[in-house]
Amino acid sequence: MALDLPALDAAEAMVARLGDSVTFYKIGYQLAYAGGLPLVRQLANAGKKVFVDLKLHDIGNTVARGVESVAKLGATFLTVHAYPQTMRAAVEAARGSGLKILAVTVLTSYDDGDLHAAGYRLGVSDLVEARAQQAQVLGVDGLVCSAEEAASLHRIVGHRMVLVTPGIRPAGAAVGDQKRIMTPGRAIAAGADYLVVGRPVLEAADPKAAADAMRAEILQALGK
Ligand code: C5P
Repeated sequence: MALDLPALDAAEAMVARLGDSVTFYKIGYQLAYAGGLPLVRQLANAGKKVFVDLKLHDIGNTVARGVESVAKLGATFLTVHAYPQTMRAAVEAARGSGLKILAVTVLTSYDDGDLHAAGYRLGVSDLVEARAQQAQVLGVDGLVCSAEEAASLHRIVGHRMVLVTPGIRPAGAAVGDQKRIMTPGRAIAAGADYLVVGRPVLEAADPKAAADAMRAEILQALGK
């Protein structure tokens, strides 16, 4: 559940409201840069898992030191951009800490034209595949991808790496700016290991009921 909220108090209120319905939270730019990072430790102490979605990318030494700091907060997942130096530094720094590194292959808002404009030779699908293979070789724990990419990525990297998929919408929900969406049930069937859900819960009249409904759909898709 993506805690995409503007302030710590709003995030704490949402966590209290969701109670036992949510066990895994994601903290991204908006909340982290608004004083939300202490919530990682608070949530971890309360028995929740936390995904720190700060998509690190810098020189190896800086990435490594950043990863060590995030590991000390008690986070479970941290994202980095899928550049070989960055992934190598992050994996080494996280080793033995319990923090798992997820690589973002190509941002989902990028198309072939955007990559070309940024100086890349490969198109989106070739670059996603190349980076997924590099991530696997370097020992990265998982990938962030659209649910549409999940089946083909599992074929490329096998089932050791976890696939974490945003762009999840229950049938009939507002799409927002997401381009490639799937329902929770279909995403699980496509091979997603973790689903990232933000607005369908945050903007619901009853967020707890919305979270419970998604949970039920996930459990049903898993045959539980
Ligand atoms: O509100 P919504 O369910 O679209 O939230 C999706 C979350 O997943 C947001 O926090 C967004 O930043 C994140 N995300 C994404 N697409 C990616 C990577 C992360 O939507 N490729």
